[in-house]
Order: sequence, then C-alpha cells, then structure tokens
Amino acid sequence: MAPPIIRLGLIGCGTVGSAFAEQLLAREPMLARRLGARLHLAGVAVRDTRRKRPVPQTFVTDDAAAIASDPDIDVVVEASGAPQASDWLRTALGRGASVVTASKQAVARTPALLERLVRRDQRLWCEGAVAAGVPVVRALRESLAGEEVHAIRGVLNGTSTFLLSRLETGSTLDLALAEARSLGYAEADPSADLDGSDAAAKLAILCTVAWRIPVTADLVTVTGIDGVLPVAREGGWRLVATATRDGDHVCARVAPERLAPRDPLAAAYGVINVVEVRAALAGALTWSGAGAGGAATASALVGDTLAAARQALHRLRARAAA
Ligand SMILES: NC(=O)c1ccc[n+]([C@@H]2O[C@H](COP(=O)([O-])OP(=O)(O)OC[C@H]3O[C@@H](n4cnc5c(N)ncnc54)[C@H](OP(=O)(O)O)[C@@H]3O)[C@@H](O)[C@H]2O)c1
Repeated sequence: MAPPIIRLGLIGCGTVGSAFAEQLLAREPMLARRLGARLHLAGVAVRDTRRKRPVPQTFVTDDAAAIASDPDIDVVVEASGAPQASDWLRTALGRGASVVTASKQAVARTPALLERLVRRDQRLWCEGAVAAGVPVVRALRESLAGEEVHAIRGVLNGTSTFLLSRLETGSTLDLALAEARSLGYAEADPSADLDGSDAAAKLAILCTVAWRIPVTADLVTVTGIDGVLPVAREGGWRLVATATRDGDHVCARVAPERLAPRDPLAAAYGVINVVEVRAALAGALTWSGAGAGGAATASALVGDTLAAARQALHRLRARAAA
C-alpha cells in the first residue's frame, strides 16, 4: 500500500525558508521512513515570485493567506517574519491544520498563540523561533514538564553577541554589521536585535512554556546594547535575558551585562546562544549552540515539522477510521 501523504505549505523562502525547503527535499526518503508517511511540499509563498528558489517554480505563489486557509494543506510552516504571520498561523490553526513557525514576534505578541503553548497544544510548534538550532523549547515543554523551573537566563540574540564579540576584537560597528548581514545573521534592519526586542520575544516564549502562564513580549523590561557599544572593547558584554517567577508573577528583563569569565553565559560568542535553566530537581542545566543561520534554524523546523506531521497523520487516520 502507498504510504499516506502529508501536504505541507511553506510561507517564506528566504534565509530560513530556503534552508528548510532544501533539507526537506534532500531528506525526503529518510523523513518518510521515520514518519511512516510522505511529506509533500505543496505550496510556497513569497513576496517576489520571480526570484529563483530551491523549489519547483510551479509551487510558488505570492498569496500566503491562501496557503494558510487551504483545506488540503495539513501543516503550514511559517518562516516569513511578516507582520501578518500571526493572522496566517491563527487561520491555519482555526481550520484544524498544524503549524510550525520560526517567527518569535508572531508568537510572543499574540495571546491566543501563547495560550496554545500554555496548553501544550500539539498543533503549534515554535522551536526555531527561540535560539534557532538549540532545542530548549522542547526541553522545557517535554523533558522538564514535571519540573519546577526557578529561573531562566540566556544570551538569546545571535546578532548582538556577534557584534559585541567583533567590537571586543577591535572591529567597528559598521564593519561588524556588514559582516553579520553578509553571513545571513543580521536582517537589513537590525534594530530589533540591537534594541533587545528580539531577545524579549524569545524570553517571553520560554517563560510561557516553562511556567504555563502567557507572557507577552511587552511584559519584558528591555534595554538594548546601544549604551554599552562605546565600552564593548572591555570585553565580556552580552545582551542577557533573565526571568524568575514569584507565584503568578513573572519578572522578565533583557539588558546588557558584563559577564564574569566563569559565568556559563560567557560561552556565548559569535552567533552561539547559551540558555541556562535552574530547576528544582535537575539543578542548573545549560544548552548552547548556533542561535542564528539558515541551517541551524532549518534543523529546528524539520524536527517540528515531523512532530506536526505526526499529529496530522493521527487526524487523517482518525478520519479514515470514522
Ligand atoms: N535568519 C535567521 O538566522 C533566523 C533564525 C531564527 C528565526 N528566524 C526567523 O525566521 C523568520 C524568517 O527569517 P529570514 O531570516 O529567513 O528572513 P528573510 O530572509 O527576509 O526571508 C523572509 C521570507 O518571507 C517572505 N515574505 C515576507 N513577507 C511576505 C509576505 N507578506 N507574503 C509572502 N511571503 C513573504 C520573503 O519573500 P521574498 O523572498 O520574496 O522577499 C522571504 O522569502 C523571521 O521571523 C526570523 O525572525 C530567523
């Protein structure tokens, strides 16, 4: 019997979306074996349909909303960072599809999506939105599900770490920014990286998952790295995200800190993110790895796509049985 087919729609085919599509196509047989179903990329939405993409041109559309609302698409993978991303995700979820997203702002600024993370909704996956390839969302969501998390600390913004590390070794801000852009780490407008709002959105998602309380990004107190750029050459400055919980109140902030060399967070260098979680039973846990870049984020998206596709497969089988 032919294996079942799970139809995917991809919104966004830039740095992250292209890396995801390439890996999905390259790993198709292996993913099919692991899932017990074929993953079929049925549509890809971008702004400019004339640009060359690593997917057949016939799949490409400029209508992201149509992918979100297409009843034949079982899993929507969103990697656009577009202001409408939250609407697309809610549309897809609303019609019963599963979604995977890399867009931290879409999740962290939308209470309805954060509520789904609180409920451990198996149709919403967002590993790639926080620390790219570092699997900390799933660790908090699943491995530490029975734990009492006391505190979260992290260096969560690869671009600001990259810039601060380059300034430490004598580069200028303009040169470091140009380098970050050419490597695909910094966006054309890096203000969300520098002003701390990118790290705040990631911290909000981690707090929501860890404490099962919806924490929107605007509840995080934020100070960007502007004020420490003139002293960055001293070394050790990083944009640090910190959160603790007191009853139903979560205290979360993002601010530059000069880290002692022995601080586990001081291992954040270049685009390496570090996340430290303190939990009642497990004690201090630390994760580190590439927090930006197409390949690292694609790793998280492919893993989440398998999880989302498993849910879609259950739905298909339940429908067939009914
Ligand atoms: N880059 C990273 O290292 C990284 C890591 C983790 C998470 N993320 C997140 O992943 C998301 C994508 O980041 P990226 O670096 O891949 O950005 P990007 O290179 O700018 O790609 C964005 C893609 O989305 C498409 N797009 C934008 N607005 C759209 C719209 N209204 N309708 C249809 N398509 C639209 C763009 O189309 P065109 O190609 O036609 O312009 C492009 O293909 C963002 O939320 C970002 O925060 C990025």
